[in-house]
Amino acid sequence: MRHDHLLSAGQLTREDIEAVLDRAAELDADPDAAAGRYDDTLLALCFFEPSTRTKMSFDTAMKRLGGDTVDMGTVESSSVKKGESLADTVRVIEGYADGIVLRHPSEGAAKLASQFVDVPVVNAGDGAGQHPSQTLLDLYTMRERAGLDDLTVGIMGDLKYGRTVHSLASALTEFDARMHFVSPESLRLPRSVQFDLHDAGARLREHTDLDEVLPELDVLYVTRIQRERFPDENEYQKVAGQYRIDAETLEAARDDLTVMHPLPRVDEIAPDVDDSEYAAYFAQAHNGVPVRMALLDGLLAGDGAADDPVATDGGGR
Ligand code: NCD
Repeated sequence: MRHDHLLSAGQLTREDIEAVLDRAAELDADPDAAAGRYDDTLLALCFFEPSTRTKMSFDTAMKRLGGDTVDMGTVESSSVKKGESLADTVRVIEGYADGIVLRHPSEGAAKLASQFVDVPVVNAGDGAGQHPSQTLLDLYTMRERAGLDDLTVGIMGDLKYGRTVHSLASALTEFDARMHFVSPESLRLPRSVQFDLHDAGARLREHTDLDEVLPELDVLYVTRIQRERFPDENEYQKVAGQYRIDAETLEAARDDLTVMHPLPRVDEIAPDVDDSEYAAYFAQAHNGVPVRMALLDGLLAGDGAADDPVATDGGGR
């Protein structure tokens, strides 16, 4: 029985990350590289919040590895609607599947779930907490475009509620990247995230104005304002549409800047950036498949698997 989960980016060392990215590159070049090992493997998709990319790319990844998926469906159509606890739900689902991918609106949900089951749990987003598999595909994309050494990364938008930001910033400390956080005052990184980053030796600065740092950046990671997490719609309206880039904004950037976004975008990146050399966000979304294949290959470790690239317990047990 395995006891490994992917709950937060903080559990991943540089070596863990590089092992997953290397395996993803192998699987990208040869999707049959794990052929035959997952024919009897089932992955449960438990999404208590909306998802397109994360859910579909985990689904695709498991199927491309030769396995299959079982989908809890929407909250409305499941027993959650009848008041079932998360603990009971995942205890039942572990009887059906070899691993669980969980997205939930509450921070800490994946960690909690991992304490009740003996199959690997992947945190596919827990409220404003973490989204570590997104980080792996973000890093894969950065490595392809700019390499991971000596990076200067700007992270802009909703740094308060954006879980992709929290995971990415934590992982970037493993690569000693210089990080510039650009946001309105009200959406700065939470203090707890800042403390953790400082503890990890992060090199970071905060800004309210992108112009201050744009010319220095290798990568600009733009995020959506997480409207659904605002307790007050008026507060959302105050910041909506403020941090937006277009082709004109990028005239001040280096020619080799890479613009990324976890998607979905609302209006943070104008469509006139899409066909430019800067835009990496659709390639980034496509990278979700090989990276999640590599992640599952590590966590589920089908028959005959070699070393597990994500063999950390994630603090869940
Ligand atoms: C992100 C998420 O769910 O946190 N989406 C994704 O998984 N690619 C980003 C977002 O919703 O803004």
